[in-house]
Amino acid sequence: MPFRTLDSLAPAGKRVLMRADLNVPVRDGKITDLTRIERLSPTIKELSAKGAKVIVCSHFDRPQGKRVPGMSLKPMAGALSHVLGKPVAFANDCIGPDAETAVAAMANGDVLVLENTRYHAAEEKNDPTFSAALAKLADAFVNDAFSAAHRAHASTEGVAHLLPAYAGRLMQAELEALDAALGNPQRPVAAIVGGSKVSTKLELLGNLVGKVNVLVIGGAMANTFLAAQGKAAGKSLQEAEMHATAREILVQAAKAGCEVVLPTDAVVSAEFRANPPTQTVSVDAVPADTMILDTGPASIAALIARLPSWKTLVWNGPLGAFETPPFDMATMALAKAVAEATARGALRSVAGGGDTVSALRQAGVIEKLSYVSSAGGAFLEWLEGKTLPGVAALG
Ligand code: 3PG
Repeated sequence: MPFRTLDSLAPAGKRVLMRADLNVPVRDGKITDLTRIERLSPTIKELSAKGAKVIVCSHFDRPQGKRVPGMSLKPMAGALSHVLGKPVAFANDCIGPDAETAVAAMANGDVLVLENTRYHAAEEKNDPTFSAALAKLADAFVNDAFSAAHRAHASTEGVAHLLPAYAGRLMQAELEALDAALGNPQRPVAAIVGGSKVSTKLELLGNLVGKVNVLVIGGAMANTFLAAQGKAAGKSLQEAEMHATAREILVQAAKAGCEVVLPTDAVVSAEFRANPPTQTVSVDAVPADTMILDTGPASIAALIARLPSWKTLVWNGPLGAFETPPFDMATMALAKAVAEATARGALRSVAGGGDTVSALRQAGVIEKLSYVSSAGGAFLEWLEGKTLPGVAALG
């Protein structure tokens, strides 16, 4: 879909309200991963260097319309200042006198972070009065929060109709990468979908079989498909109530000419813990007292051997219980092989989703894929083929 970028905004001297996603991982009050903040910095730096007053707004966590002290954006303003290497001001509210006074004090090039938009219940209701109060702060709106674009909230959707609206550089990069992966991909295009539950990825699988040439199903989700084909899955995690649905997806895929690839072997264990005794077995011979915890070496070798035959790959979801060794072997091997194929220029690779990003980081290849989306839920909804309200509002 067409959208305006920063190339058509002349921001000098303008107050620019920028929707960021500062919903970063925090443990014991400390930010544990700066990736989202680092990825926002090109847009902020560009706007600031061009003389805009950059007013950053975001949600953090789910305070349900209340001022929950542990959910303030103040620490994120500090982290942003560190990443940008310049002072960043902070306003105690995102609308009203606090925000207006802070904006009035800004000089061209300054950066201000507003307090958590979700401290107001009106944000998630996409309340027009709240959108108008946000819009009042600025002359233009820049949305750089692809990862929050699946939410039709005031700061992601409502305000975009009240000000001239543009995609920031991160939003632009996400949309261009995703379009190159599934919108207008170079074919053959394959998707690898792992993770644990068919039920949460049903729409996604339904959309993908109509778009990709090859659909590789891995992780515990594959167990459900194998069991649906009558194979004994032992104690493996699987969804018995999804068997009919899994069979229906296979029928849909066949009709659409999409090849579905399931594992042929698996690493099993009687216990799910780090480094227990394991066996590698055919998926036709899973012992009754064991569970499948990783994709087997023969399946992974076959998958890696096929990478050169694909031009585009979309990957969401790990192939095994990668956080518990040795059940990280398949996911790590695939991550490294995808990174190598991408480095050779043979493959355009796009990955996304929380677990997939953690797995790529664990494999040390996060910078080596063509694009790794910083979005979780928004990436999944996009894979499902849904229109994201925050993106649609930029059109
Ligand atoms: C995310 O982290 O995926 C986004 O910031 C959206 O957060 P939400 O699920 O609380 O809307």
